[in-house]
Amino acid sequence: MAEAFAPGKCILFGEHAVVYGHPAVAVAIDQGVRVGVRESTEWILEGEPFVPSRHPHISHIIKNVFEYSGPPLRIEVESSLFSAAGMGSSAALSNAFGAALHCLLNPEEPLDPISMARLAHSAEASAQKGRASPTDTATSALGGCVVVSDLQVPGTRHVFDTSLTTPEGNRDWTINVIDIPAGIEDARLVIGFSGKGSPTGRMVARVAKLISESPERIEDMEAISNITKAGLTALSAGNLEALGMAMNACHERLQNLEVSSPQLDRMVEAARPHSLGAKLTGAGGGGCMVALTQNPSRVCEAIEVAGGRPLSTGLGSEGIRVLQS
Ligand code: PMV
Repeated sequence: MAEAFAPGKCILFGEHAVVYGHPAVAVAIDQGVRVGVRESTEWILEGEPFVPSRHPHISHIIKNVFEYSGPPLRIEVESSLFSAAGMGSSAALSNAFGAALHCLLNPEEPLDPISMARLAHSAEASAQKGRASPTDTATSALGGCVVVSDLQVPGTRHVFDTSLTTPEGNRDWTINVIDIPAGIEDARLVIGFSGKGSPTGRMVARVAKLISESPERIEDMEAISNITKAGLTALSAGNLEALGMAMNACHERLQNLEVSSPQLDRMVEAARPHSLGAKLTGAGGGGCMVALTQNPSRVCEAIEVAGGRPLSTGLGSEGIRVLQS
């Protein structure tokens, strides 16, 4: 049996603005997806017969990436992420499955996180009609804190560049990281799931419509870009107060863009008295919010009372890894 784990992600800054060329900042979280793969007499996924058309990420990796023609495989998947909630569960699945299969087929060859990030991005693109940002796959593969942008943001360390041919034309991204200072270990993120899925494509289309009808809203995108840069500076310096303030400011701009929801706002309000900052994370509409706090158990309680489902995580967990079985 070859086994691998890949973490989920949480966007700290820059959701929606990244679609307009501004940077986005995401951290890997403690929760993620574990995949085990072994040879078998039948194709099995999670105890059921494997139907490739129902699992486009996995079948893309088997057929197109590894061009696998060996014996049938038995695949086990275990996830500690809420799915369709903006936590990067499909990227984590692609990364963990790619790593487990790599390990089964090439046990002597060490895992290369950049190759895995590229492999998982190609699986996301193939499953999403050619439209996929590399944010989730790169954060899950590399771990830590990842900055995705059209142009490199000063103060970040360049890791790799990637591009994709989408139905709207070619898109290029630069993937960079920042090192999270030790002092930040005092703080945790509490993610609150609204219980409702986050329809990324619909929310992106809604923002595009809002901007075409009210062009002055583009000022919120520019403000988010400045907040993202301020947040990055705060994170690099280990300045938790400034980081929390930037998160609060970012939430207000996302509200202006009409991507928050009453339930997300309720959880943000409930978390704030016990937090350094709180905001929605990801596409919005449903999905999750995130709070930065030194009192995670209090924030978890507040989120539960507000009707959400909390998860507590460190900031910037380790990326993809092979598990010894
Ligand atoms: O899919 P989510 O919820 O992790 O968030 C997507 C972030 C957006 O900026 C809204 C879309 C994108 O492609 O970057």
